[in-house]
Amino acid sequence: METAVEIKDATLSFGGTKAVDGLTLTLGKGEILGFLGTNGGGKTTTIKMLLGLLRPDSGTVSVMGGAPSDPAVRARIGYMPEIAYYYPYLNARELLSFYGGLCGMDSRAIRSRTDVLLEAVGLADAAKRPLRTYSKGMLQRAGIAQALLADPDLLVLDEPFTGLDPLARIHFRELMRSLRDGGKTIFFSSHELGETELLCDKVAIMKKGRCFYQGTVGALAGDGERNLERIFLDVLERG
Ligand SMILES: Nc1ncnc2c1ncn2[C@@H]1O[C@H](COP(=O)(O)OP(=O)(O)OP(=O)(O)O)[C@@H](O)[C@H]1O
Ligand SMILES: [Mg+2]
Repeated sequence: METAVEIKDATLSFGGTKAVDGLTLTLGKGEILGFLGTNGGGKTTTIKMLLGLLRPDSGTVSVMGGAPSDPAVRARIGYMPEIAYYYPYLNARELLSFYGGLCGMDSRAIRSRTDVLLEAVGLADAAKRPLRTYSKGMLQRAGIAQALLADPDLLVLDEPFTGLDPLARIHFRELMRSLRDGGKTIFFSSHELGETELLCDKVAIMKKGRCFYQGTVGALAGDGERNLERIFLDVLERG
């Protein structure tokens, strides 16, 4: 299988803290990875390395077969940050238009894509309201639409389920599955073990910068009776 993400023995420290410590992780094209772990475990730092926003002190990070700093590689990644600081006076349509311009999309492509995405994330009726009037979940939906705008091959989502209501979660899960079935690769961090169990082909569990498990949910569950919450606790206790 071709790989979408390949991290080899990556370490990155902030001062004396190893935020990521010897991480080796691979994700095949067309797979969904749930990146789990404790607060401060190194998930967001790893995601920033995938995007070329941070470079490892040692080890290597390769995305879609290239360096994350390569503009051609970056153009194939859609990213939703953990906390987004969007211009509050833009509405959702203007937000997507702004980001589409940054991606170099032409205005017709932006318009047609915006219509599809606002519908897909359930913001069509609120599209003309400024973002400062949005609820938390609505902002999260706008972030998902923003990440999908340029039809990326790799989606990198930092805690995408936060703030979504149950219905939006179901829609989001279906959307992610249909993207995966269309050949896209999805790398998302989460604390939502139930959602992760339902959605992922593969999980990785991080604590204090180190990865304590990496593999399929099925393999981890073994007899098929243990849920991911139980497994998560077991793995981290052993670690
Ligand atoms: N810019 C920074 N400067 C100093 N330390 C940082 C910085 N960013 C992250 N860290 C530290 O690196 C470690 C990993 O943080 P990171 O944000 O990657 O964790 P996380 O797994 O995303 O956690 P959470 O689940 O809370 O989002 C933590 O100890 C954190 O304090
Ligand atoms: Mg984080």
